[in-house]
Amino acid sequence: MTDKKKLLRSLAGEAMDVPPVWLMRQAGRYLPEYRETRAQAGDFLSLCYNSELAAEVTLQPIRRYGFDAAILFADILLIPDALGADLWFVTGEGPRLSTITGPEGLKTLKGKDDIHDHLAPVYETVRILSRELPKETTLIGFAGAPWTVATYMIAGRGTPDQGPAHALRESDPETFGALIDLLTEATIEYLDMQVKAGAEVVKIFDSWAGSLKGEAFDKFALEPAKRITAEMKRRNPGLPVIAFPREAGEKYIGFAKAVGADCVAIDTKVAPEWAAEHLQPDSCVQGNLDPKLMVEGGQRLVDEARHIVDALKGGPHIFNLGHGITPDADPENVHVLLDAIRG
Ligand code: CP3
Repeated sequence: MTDKKKLLRSLAGEAMDVPPVWLMRQAGRYLPEYRETRAQAGDFLSLCYNSELAAEVTLQPIRRYGFDAAILFADILLIPDALGADLWFVTGEGPRLSTITGPEGLKTLKGKDDIHDHLAPVYETVRILSRELPKETTLIGFAGAPWTVATYMIAGRGTPDQGPAHALRESDPETFGALIDLLTEATIEYLDMQVKAGAEVVKIFDSWAGSLKGEAFDKFALEPAKRITAEMKRRNPGLPVIAFPREAGEKYIGFAKAVGADCVAIDTKVAPEWAAEHLQPDSCVQGNLDPKLMVEGGQRLVDEARHIVDALKGGPHIFNLGHGITPDADPENVHVLLDAIRG
């Protein structure tokens, strides 16, 4: 029991004075060594599909900071890429994809079982990592949630309000529903291969869950997460699952329980005291420092980190940010943060 990795202990429900810690996007542009390896790979997507270099950038923040978890270096948009949608990244702007606007677009996509040749380098990255990570570090695999991935596939890019996806959801519920189903099933196959390759935990990123309201949230954020979690646990008994329905607001209440997740990740809008009261009775809570403080640093960073630790120490907690660390963050501030948490 005592030799169980710290992050896995939190996921199993243990409260600790010093929580395990990792950061979303901990391998990223704020680190000079990441920028160097990315340049060596050529571009971001080539880095994702180069197993040796993807493993290298995953390990960089572990070497520098000794985080309790490493997250596989990949992207949520590799699934649409593997399904046959065109995907490219425009420097300084973000992802671009071919768009799905109706039944014809859907027909151009491959089936859920036809993704593995394309994604084989990702599975190899996981195998390398499970050999090379320090024994106390937990390896997290991940995928985007069907709704969030669908918003990019429908619009062909990131959008401020996910307008095109909401429009298709209303005008052509059949095509939209079939896309969500395909993504749900492909995501299960993808995550299952990550686990078979050595991922110890999986996280489902629903970055745009907050733009679904009421019944639409239940149907397109909660239900797919529940289907993925149930099937992953059926195939891999005991596998811990972290769900991140970002900006779900009141819909955070009961989400982990309904989905069957072991942990719910909270965004920066959630007060940690509120999470302690409403979410921790059901599951572990992960979060939720504002990534802006990793740019700002100083006493506010220390105070806010300690505030989050204190508010959540009565139950299981994994310390993280409320969203990814940004390229303008100061790498020194990660040491300041870790000192504030670990003392
Ligand atoms: O957290 C990690 O370190 C693991 C790797 C990871 C990346 N993306 C690497 C990445 C993970 C878990 C993601 C998830 C992801 N990708 C999400 C969900 C989480 C969130 O941020 O809301 C989303 C929506 C994407 C799609 C995506 N990928 C966008 C919109 C962008 C462009 C914006 C940006 O930050 O440049 C990416 C690119 C991306 N994914 C980068 C990294 C390190 C930056 C690429 C670069 O090096 O230029």
